[in-house]
Amino acid sequence: MRTLKWNYDKNLLEMIDQRLLPGEFKIIEFDTYQKVAQAITDMVVRGAPAIGGAAGFGLAAAAFQSAASTPEELHRDLKVAAKVLGQARPTAVNLAWALDRVLNEVFPPLLIGEGPGVRSDAEVRSNAEVMSLCQAILTEAQRIADEDVEINKRMARHGAELIEDGDTIIHHCNTGALATVDWGTALGVIRTAHEQGKNIHVLVDETRPRLQGARLTAWELEQYGIPYDIISDNAAGYFLRTGQVQKVVFGADRVAANGDVANKIGTYMLALAARDNSVPAYSVVPTSTIDLTLPTGEEIPIEEREEAEVLALTLKGLQVSPANASARNPAFDVTPHRLVTGIVTENGVVYPPFDKNLPKAVKSET
Ligand code: MRU
Repeated sequence: MRTLKWNYDKNLLEMIDQRLLPGEFKIIEFDTYQKVAQAITDMVVRGAPAIGGAAGFGLAAAAFQSAASTPEELHRDLKVAAKVLGQARPTAVNLAWALDRVLNEVFPPLLIGEGPGVRSDAEVRSNAEVMSLCQAILTEAQRIADEDVEINKRMARHGAELIEDGDTIIHHCNTGALATVDWGTALGVIRTAHEQGKNIHVLVDETRPRLQGARLTAWELEQYGIPYDIISDNAAGYFLRTGQVQKVVFGADRVAANGDVANKIGTYMLALAARDNSVPAYSVVPTSTIDLTLPTGEEIPIEEREEAEVLALTLKGLQVSPANASARNPAFDVTPHRLVTGIVTENGVVYPPFDKNLPKAVKSET
């Protein structure tokens, strides 16, 4: 089952509502790009590659919503939609990557730009052509979704080579099928290693404040039959220090050109504790998550979400914090590249020096 998929009969996007799992499995329909953008902000769908996939289909929804009668009008409408979708969450670069890819594929600069080679209005102005452009948008969005699954499986095969029989692995946040279109990144590696017959055990960081680990990763591991225990985030150091962990794996929302990794809040502390105990820490990412335009992680925008997510914690039905408490809620942190052992991509495992080796991995994409 895919996390998100286009329903061709109804011409709309269907997504699993991840806010309800594991208690309830519900699929919601999205027929406008505004609803898709809101779903990304509200984390109905989350995880960098899944956000990218949703954004691509969001543009398809925008295309079918548009009343444009010329390619130029359609392009204008889609640019408005891309702006709204692009602002839904700031850290995962896959969002902008997917929007740019769809628009550049369907509206190459020659068709919509100025200057020699531009087609005249008479040549392009027809409803039929607008309809075929709408279909092309959907086709490209579908291609992004399908490729994501295939890329995840390739990444997983590279990453699984790093996992040894008998390993205990700490995993942060949710990077599984739910965080992608299907299969997953870091959890995809674990899943593939398990399917290869390796006997592994996963320590699942619960991942405060939204508990993607305790809710979503644990739910996925149950389905795959992979043994696990949920641990509170602050227990990771204990397990690493006492020699009970052989690998640490996580995904990323954006990797800078020097290998700095922005990922779910808490990844930095986990990577620090891993390094202090000489346990390898791997980030598993599709090359679409690598942003070579940013020299270091300092330039990666870090989303700060509402304080209610931190303060919502209750025990025995009572709110844990005082009624007037305030909170800070950065959703991501940046792990400096010196703490990252390797970055697993669909094109192989990249090792330091990342500034030299990441561009090669990104280029061999095609
Ligand atoms: O806030 P979320 O749940 O969208 O954060 C997700 C993560 O941090 C994942 O680790 C990251 O997107 C990589 S998942 C393939």
